[in-house]
Amino acid sequence: MPAKKSATAARKTAAKSTASKSSQKKQTAPANMDGQEQDNLLYKLFVDMLKDMLWAEKHLVTQLNTMQTVATTAQLQEAFEDHKFATQKHVSRLEKVFKLLGVEPEAKKCDAMEGLTNEANSMIQETKEGTMTRDAALIIAAQKVEHYEIASYGSLVQVARTLGNEEAASILEKTLWEEEDTDQLLTDIAESDINPLADDEQEEEMEETEEEEEEMA
Ligand SMILES: [Fe+2]
Ligand SMILES: [Fe+2]
Repeated sequence: MPAKKSATAARKTAAKSTASKSSQKKQTAPANMDGQEQDNLLYKLFVDMLKDMLWAEKHLVTQLNTMQTVATTAQLQEAFEDHKFATQKHVSRLEKVFKLLGVEPEAKKCDAMEGLTNEANSMIQETKEGTMTRDAALIIAAQKVEHYEIASYGSLVQVARTLGNEEAASILEKTLWEEEDTDQLLTDIAESDINPLADDEQEEEMEETEEEEEEMA
């Protein structure tokens, strides 16, 4: 999908230009927060959001493992496996930002991510193993997660820039771009393969196939 890829590239270029404008504006701001800035309410909110995301990303490593195991197609299994490794990298990047701030990397339970993964698990329960409809459901659940992450990292990047911490902003922006790429990849997989094949699945046919398999066994 070259058109979509170039749109992503354009977003990245625009973001880089915003970053450079922002760093020009805040040239004198230090990379680390001094004592005075730690009392800043926006800084406190920033740290709180980072703790939330640390919990969310750690929780997602386990969830992506489950989703990889229950996916029907090798294509989706591979996409979840790749994103599991990327998610481990997202945890490391958050820990790097905590180190930069001189704050303990403490994870704080993210209720939104817990809700999204509970919903993903319900969708697994409600779809038949070995069907394309199972994969269509997994993609929908995974994209809800990616959109939450995109919103969260987009906010974190902007807040980091407002606080004058360009180093933290650029670390968090790398993760933001990876979440956007994953979302696009899931859209491509759904549109090109999974959804059209899921559209051909009928409940009765699936039951007949299961009965035939049982008789043959
Ligand atoms: Fe992530
Ligand atoms: Fe993600």
